[in-house]
Amino acid sequence: MIGIFDSGLGGLTAARELHTLLPNEKFIYFGDTGRVPYGTRSHELLLKYARQDINFLVANGAHAILAACGTVSSVVLDELKGEFDIPLIGVVDASVKAALAATKNGIVGVIGTGATVSSGAFERKLKEGGAKEVVSVACPLFVPLVENGYIARDNEVTKLVARDYLEKIKSTGADTLILGCTHFPIIADIIGDELPGVSLINSGAAAAKEVAKYAAEESGEGEYYVSDSPMNFDTVARIFLGGETVCAKKIDIEKY
Ligand code: DGL
Repeated sequence: MIGIFDSGLGGLTAARELHTLLPNEKFIYFGDTGRVPYGTRSHELLLKYARQDINFLVANGAHAILAACGTVSSVVLDELKGEFDIPLIGVVDASVKAALAATKNGIVGVIGTGATVSSGAFERKLKEGGAKEVVSVACPLFVPLVENGYIARDNEVTKLVARDYLEKIKSTGADTLILGCTHFPIIADIIGDELPGVSLINSGAAAAKEVAKYAAEESGEGEYYVSDSPMNFDTVARIFLGGETVCAKKIDIEKY
């Protein structure tokens, strides 16, 4: 069974893609809604959170794990790889590969949380892969907007925030933009409206393609778990998943 985790709803962008690729494959999802956001946390705290998230998924039968979180993938995943004897896949490599294949002018934008942008992980790999110019912008406010359901294409608040954040991407002439936080594809319409003609790379979906190779052909429904009251998660997940009912269960992540 494939395990997927994120600080909250963002990893659903990967879970949805995995479900599209492998409709019968059972997966287990953990959204750390009690401790979201991750993008403002220190390195030590991110290490602790990600370790507990992985421990929970492993204890519940995951044999391969997708860290469907740009922050964890950028800041601590490499350090954790040595601690577990199962594949741990992040979102950086797959989205960098997709962006390099998509760009025509070599100017690539990256948006993510503060921690992701400060780590320079996407930027480094894009440059190694031959990008001519990389412009990175931290967009932390997108995370609470998504978690609170401000996701409709005509949401005036999210549109205003997007306009402000994306100005720098627009002015550099990037033709490709990595949505380096997995929450962001949930508001891809709003981001795309601000940047017409720019190819948007969904980091969660790109990584789901990568993790699909570890499918065990174990069929079943997706299982969802959260670390705080599931109500808000279930409501927003349902909108994002096009009406599919999600009944997440609350667990105590501090036990793991
Ligand atoms: N969705 C996560 C990411 O990709 C975390 C966002 C957050 O919790 O700050 O970075």
